[in-house]
Amino acid sequence: MNNSPIQTPELIHSPKEIRAKVVAAQKSGLTVGFVPTMGALHEGHLSLAGRAAAECDVTVVSIFVNPTQFGPSEDFSKYPRTLDSDIELLSHYHPVWVFAPEAADMYPPGMSTVVSPPRVSSPLEGVSRPTHFAGVATVVLKLLNMVPADIAYFGQKDYQQACVIRQMVIDLDVATRIAVCPIVRDDDGLAMSSRNRYLTPAERTAALSISRSLRVATERLEAGDRDAESIAAGMRAEMHAAGIREIDYAILANPQTLETLQTATDTVVILIAARVGGTRLIDNCVVSLSPTE
Ligand code: PAJ
Repeated sequence: MNNSPIQTPELIHSPKEIRAKVVAAQKSGLTVGFVPTMGALHEGHLSLAGRAAAECDVTVVSIFVNPTQFGPSEDFSKYPRTLDSDIELLSHYHPVWVFAPEAADMYPPGMSTVVSPPRVSSPLEGVSRPTHFAGVATVVLKLLNMVPADIAYFGQKDYQQACVIRQMVIDLDVATRIAVCPIVRDDDGLAMSSRNRYLTPAERTAALSISRSLRVATERLEAGDRDAESIAAGMRAEMHAAGIREIDYAILANPQTLETLQTATDTVVILIAARVGGTRLIDNCVVSLSPTE
């Protein structure tokens, strides 16, 4: 990463043009890192850009609010679109190419191919948002074809999404390596999300019970408790007590398959999705335990 001087990133709209630039850069011996986003950038996204800038010669950040991954009653139309300030935030890293395709270029008339996402897409988000991962897998495959980077960076914040993408690139022989980066949190523990801006102060206080319940669950695991169902019940109680009524899931799962565990194993992922007011939030935490004697 190069922090100074500030340099306005180059903005590219055309898929053909970004692909030509990436291929030319690679031909000249440069490595290319890629961070796909939907914009409304925050420190979580910037941590991925920073890692790409540190590891690669050129960083491409795509900004595209992908309609096909939103359900009919979800927030596609009100999703924040802040291209100018996103570009400004990226000026601290360089060289950065911002790729902001138009919807008409991503989904031209007649486009009808859809990626059927791998098995790991079925539980959890797959139940709550049945069409979501087909939309994600399709747009990410298209983006990886437009930006055939050496490494693409994703956040652990969307744990199941990272599992889906990792499996898809294996199954479909995509050459880009996938890197998954840690969750960036605000000081109060809330995982950063473009959707946090929808929260009222009271809702934000309630939302803190999500990361708090992950911490309580982690402490129980570290103290030797292996009763995954009871730990999950404890998480739900913590969120209920804070006023959260709609919990899509709060579970301990196998970190590869995302199958719900009754008894915790050596490594578990704890996953939560809950609605706070009108805002759906997700968070997770991976816990590695040494086997109990
Ligand atoms: P978006 O929600 O904008 O997220 C872009 C990337 O930033 C994802 O890989 C996400 O996991 C990561 N990210 C978000 N919040 C983070 C946080 N607090 N800490 C670390 N990383 C974080 O995820 C998507 O967009 C879309 O589904 C996309 C992959 C771009 C396909 O449309």
